[in-house]
Amino acid sequence: MMQIAGRHVLVTGGAGFIGSNLVDHLVANGARVRILDNLSTGTRANIEGALAGGAELQVGDVRSAADVAAAIDEVDIVMHLACSCLRVSLQRPRASHDVNAGGTLTVLEAAARAGVARFLYCSSSEAYGTAQMDVMAEDHLTQPTTVYGASKLAGEWYTLAYWRVHGLPVVIVRPFNTYGYREHVSGPSGEVIPKMTLRALAGQRPVILGDGRQTRDFTFVTDTVRGLLSAVECDALVGEIVNIASGSEVSIERVAELVCRACGSDCAPLYAPARPADVRRHRADVRKARGRLGFEPTVAIEEGIERYVAWFKEHHLDEIDRLLAHDKQRNWELAAPAGARGG
Ligand SMILES: NC(=O)c1ccc[n+]([C@@H]2O[C@H](COP(=O)([O-])OP(=O)(O)OC[C@H]3O[C@@H](n4cnc5c(N)ncnc54)[C@H](O)[C@@H]3O)[C@@H](O)[C@H]2O)c1
Repeated sequence: MMQIAGRHVLVTGGAGFIGSNLVDHLVANGARVRILDNLSTGTRANIEGALAGGAELQVGDVRSAADVAAAIDEVDIVMHLACSCLRVSLQRPRASHDVNAGGTLTVLEAAARAGVARFLYCSSSEAYGTAQMDVMAEDHLTQPTTVYGASKLAGEWYTLAYWRVHGLPVVIVRPFNTYGYREHVSGPSGEVIPKMTLRALAGQRPVILGDGRQTRDFTFVTDTVRGLLSAVECDALVGEIVNIASGSEVSIERVAELVCRACGSDCAPLYAPARPADVRRHRADVRKARGRLGFEPTVAIEEGIERYVAWFKEHHLDEIDRLLAHDKQRNWELAAPAGARGG
């Protein structure tokens, strides 16, 4: 087993939502951490605590071989999380390809050249596309519906090729929808639970894109981070792919209900047209993670949403108007008349 403590770990995308939570855990577990991030969606605020705890930030781009080579110097382990998000891929598909596929290849090239001891690629459940089976095991068909999903899948194949051709010891993790502390609230990176929380706390109706019966396997960020850490340490997973998720399915309508309850709001949701190529169902089979890593999801959706809403109130309550104004720029919530059901 590869121990994290005392190792020099490079986290790409470490100033982002999942990355910054991961970096906090790495620092707390005694790793020396360097973050490579271009701060496009990540922020220094996310990593203030980690920087104070000894982590190092290199502002740079995973598309730049020079930036990556400098960041990887003297590193033992690479955890590659930098990405351009799904919603950006709908408007700017090439950005997804360049960062998620091209950037991954650039980081792999540098990792192989540097001879790192472990390379973790953070993929995504979006690599599967819509569920063809009730639960999705790692050998489920991969038929992504978006350029984002396709670019994350390309990153997986490049990563496996570096294992097969160059013997780079790689592990691939497919997290399912993750939510929790520091998740993006507004703008193109904004996610459903923070957006609903923002509106519910402002006394507005939460917006559901589509009919609300689409499901996701929502995983609290502390569970996702524990999964990433166990996976990177596990020798038996080298050259393999593992799902990290809660293993349960919840509809977006139910999420809206839980968010409203946690916010003390009784507003009914507003329905807007579905996002193009939105996947219909996602529920992970987590038996491999359980068997190989002893991974157990610990935070149920009801508790996770309550924890998140409490955190949101502590960190964002005084900027609700600014965040709402930022989100309005997209105007998506006005795309359908109130009460209309999207397809
Ligand atoms: N959030 C989820 O629900 C979820 C689910 C499954 C998988 N993932 C994966 O987890 C990883 C982290 O996602 P997140 O939700 O924390 O997103 P995020 O946008 O918060 O994090 C991505 C980070 O990468 C940085 N970045 C973007 N382009 C870069 C570039 N060219 N060079 C260097 N840094 C760059 C951003 O500034 C940001 O800090 C991604 O690989 C994503 O595909 C996320």
